[in-house]
Amino acid sequence: MRYSVYNFGTSQQRAAIICLLFLCLLAGYHLLQPLLKYEINSKTKNEEKLLKNQREVLSEITSLKKKINELEISLEQAEFRVPKTFPNIKFLNYKDRKRILVTGGAGFVGSHLVDYLMKEGHEVIVVDNFFTGRKRNVEHWIGHGNFELIHHDIVNPLTIEVDEIYHLASPASPPHYMLNPVKTIKTNTVGTINMLGLARRVNAKILIASTSEVYGDPEIHPQSESYWGHVNPIGPRACYDEGKRVAETLSYAYAKQEKVQVRVARIFNTYGPRMHMNDGRVVSNFILQALQNESITIYGHGKQTRSFQYVSDLVDGLVALMNSSYSLPVNLGNPIEHNIDGNL
Ligand SMILES: NC(=O)c1ccc[n+]([C@@H]2O[C@H](COP(=O)([O-])OP(=O)(O)OC[C@H]3O[C@@H](n4cnc5c(N)ncnc54)[C@H](O)[C@@H]3O)[C@@H](O)[C@H]2O)c1
Repeated sequence: MRYSVYNFGTSQQRAAIICLLFLCLLAGYHLLQPLLKYEINSKTKNEEKLLKNQREVLSEITSLKKKINELEISLEQAEFRVPKTFPNIKFLNYKDRKRILVTGGAGFVGSHLVDYLMKEGHEVIVVDNFFTGRKRNVEHWIGHGNFELIHHDIVNPLTIEVDEIYHLASPASPPHYMLNPVKTIKTNTVGTINMLGLARRVNAKILIASTSEVYGDPEIHPQSESYWGHVNPIGPRACYDEGKRVAETLSYAYAKQEKVQVRVARIFNTYGPRMHMNDGRVVSNFILQALQNESITIYGHGKQTRSFQYVSDLVDGLVALMNSSYSLPVNLGNPIEHNIDGNL
């Protein structure tokens, strides 16, 4: 029996098959529609997510740009404060150039000593806890290749390689050293032991900044270095006076026992730029009152005498003493005394 493709059943059968096919298509369309809708929805959702992400990234970029701008402004301000050019310094070859530690180098005297040593061409390391010292006293050297500033309290040991140590760290004016008497004693005793120990370990020469206050309330005038002083060991100033006396005693003990090369400077009243305005002593009191257009206060009869040395003269004296071979204590001050009311 032979069938033709075109000879497929009767016309009713063909119509039924076409109807069936149509119904299948209709059912398929209804079945597929939710799937198509789902696909379109998820596509839209993805696009929305993408847009949201883009918006987040854009806002992050904007806030980062803002932060960068702020950083650039503060960098510019910092650059403005740090000078691009440094004060002129001498050139020293490596044999003559020394590594010098100045404790208390951010203070009044210390910062002038740092200026001197830097200008001479040495490498200078300042160690300071900024109790009375200020960074701005040495900020003109920050960034210089020969200069280093270390925030450190000398009551804690320090390990560093140096050739010389100028040990100046200690509050110097009565309101400062009486604020925390125990700390003043620690700085002058434990701190001095730490510096003498460092000098011994690295074989460095050390100069101790002592004071005319080791003579206390002296019974003789002027005081020569051989005078032993007249000190009240329990008075309000004892933390400083006795602290410095122990610092001297320690220096000579290390010199005798450990062969450390020590120099001891007994510094008298000093004045000059960068001295503390709240120093409590006569020079700063007079200047402050004059600047505020107030009457100048003189305590007592005004006939009491004082001597004042300018800070650069003191620095010359400190350097000359360090470079000398003289190891006993040396008074550094102005030998000429003035009445307090003398020039008014
Ligand atoms: N200025 C004077 O008329 C005078 C007189 C006699 C003696 N001295 C002596 O000279 C030295 C310098 O005096 P100044 O007038 O420059 O005083 P200052 O207060 O200006 O400087 C002292 C510096 O030592 C720092 N310092 C204090 N304790 C420290 C610690 N524990 N660790 C690290 N750093 C510390 C301070 O922050 C400050 O920078 C002192 O030892 C002082 O006793 C000064």
